[in-house]
Amino acid sequence: MATFSHTRTGHSHTRRRFLKTAAAAAGAWCAATVVPARVRGATAPSNRINVGLIGCGHQSQRIVPSFLVHTDMQMVAVCDVRRCGVGYYYPDQVLGRETAQRWVHDHYAQQTGSGRYQGCAAYADFRELLAHPDIDAVAIVVPDHWHALIAIAALRAGKDVYCEKPLALTINQGRQMVKAVRRYQRVFQTGAQFRSSPNVRRACELVRSGRLGQIHTVRTWVDPNSFEGPGPGWQPMPVPDGFDYDFWLGPAPDAPYHVERCFHRWRYILDYSNGQTCNFGAHTNDIAQWALGMDGTTPVEFEDNGAEFPPDGSLFTAATRTAFRARYANGIELFCETRSSSATRFEGTAGWLEIDLGGGLRTYPENLSGTVLGPQDVHLPSSNPTREENVRKLIDADHVRNFLDAVKSGQDPIEPVEVGHSTASLCILGNIAQILKRKFTWDPAAERSPDDADVNAMLSRPMRDPWGAEGLEV
Ligand SMILES: NC(=O)c1ccc[n+]([C@@H]2O[C@H](COP(=O)([O-])OP(=O)(O)OC[C@H]3O[C@@H](n4cnc5c(N)ncnc54)[C@H](O)[C@@H]3O)[C@@H](O)[C@H]2O)c1
Repeated sequence: MATFSHTRTGHSHTRRRFLKTAAAAAGAWCAATVVPARVRGATAPSNRINVGLIGCGHQSQRIVPSFLVHTDMQMVAVCDVRRCGVGYYYPDQVLGRETAQRWVHDHYAQQTGSGRYQGCAAYADFRELLAHPDIDAVAIVVPDHWHALIAIAALRAGKDVYCEKPLALTINQGRQMVKAVRRYQRVFQTGAQFRSSPNVRRACELVRSGRLGQIHTVRTWVDPNSFEGPGPGWQPMPVPDGFDYDFWLGPAPDAPYHVERCFHRWRYILDYSNGQTCNFGAHTNDIAQWALGMDGTTPVEFEDNGAEFPPDGSLFTAATRTAFRARYANGIELFCETRSSSATRFEGTAGWLEIDLGGGLRTYPENLSGTVLGPQDVHLPSSNPTREENVRKLIDADHVRNFLDAVKSGQDPIEPVEVGHSTASLCILGNIAQILKRKFTWDPAAERSPDDADVNAMLSRPMRDPWGAEGLEV
């Protein structure tokens, strides 16, 4: 039977190290010159929200400015298992915790009379960051195989969480994240920022308001891989200085180091992700779910539709061509495929509408896009009702703003954990159909296939010691 895992060699992460680090964590906070501020509880609501960033790679370049633009928060700590180094999306791009710490210092330095600021701590171990009581919230911007463990640890530590999409690596991990948010009563925002796009919202409102008639088909597209990985016979490489590779692997299987495994490219390897099916699918299928009113549930049938994978022995293992079909209980069919750029298209009895991630909206009939919705139509929640420009960096900042407001109010933000979980589940199940190369039925309420044991065996994955199942316990 197909599985997610492949190569194994001899790295080991001992329980002793885990316990020692956890014990040391409580005293590990570097004295940072921050205003300690709990926004709920005893202190005034006007206090700043202290935020810690976990994961200082490619996407942190969008997340850091999206937080720093808001003056009622303070970024007080960053964390990455990599000190500093090149090799991310662009080969000469230098990222890691020291780079992120410098961005934060430079930002706040501009606001001080002295032009100096040193108040952002940098950690290699997220448990040390989480141990600090003055951190109210964390932004989790690490590869997908780490989302659940870090998010659940943060929730247990009483932090509110902004966690990048796709929510989780497996159905089981996502379900545990949902449980943890509700058990520990924290705020959780899924980092699928197109829910904060004015154009996406408008597209979804048109669909929900029946302007396309009855929807029968949804087509979602995901970008192709941006890189072709090393083929069979690839050779391991030496681990760069300042990079804790064993920690980076964490719960994933042991595997020899290669630069194309770790920095940004991990999204093409099934041990750490579900490929572009889930990477871009977490956006385009999220839009489908929102427009169809399917948040909190998923289709009931999934089928491979000709997905393609790299040759055996390649470093990259995720689909090079996404192609699956799904069917909702109400009969609507969803086709998810690779195309040159990601988009979502709704086809109904009265027309069609296509929205891309840049906010481009095309419709048939053409004048549908100019429709002014009335008070009787469906109006969806908005992160920023005054926002009209569909500019990516403003959308990102609005999505974070929506999170910070939720931290203050204690209410759910625009994309709570259950929504992130159902969208990620759709993508993960599509990927399972692609791997198994067949059709299966799915019970969204039970979160199991009623009759396919192979599918059910793929709903969780073994986790390497000491990052085992106890890290997911709620
Ligand atoms: N919302 C979006 O549009 C969008 C866009 C790109 C990426 N993302 C998401 O952001 C996340 C990160 O992606 P990326 O492109 O930045 O990847 P990346 O590889 O460029 O960066 C990830 C960073 O996390 C660090 N890291 C790994 N494990 C860690 C751990 N246990 N503790 C601390 N740091 C750890 C890595 O060293 C690396 O620096 C992914 O979940 C991805 O899906 C979202």
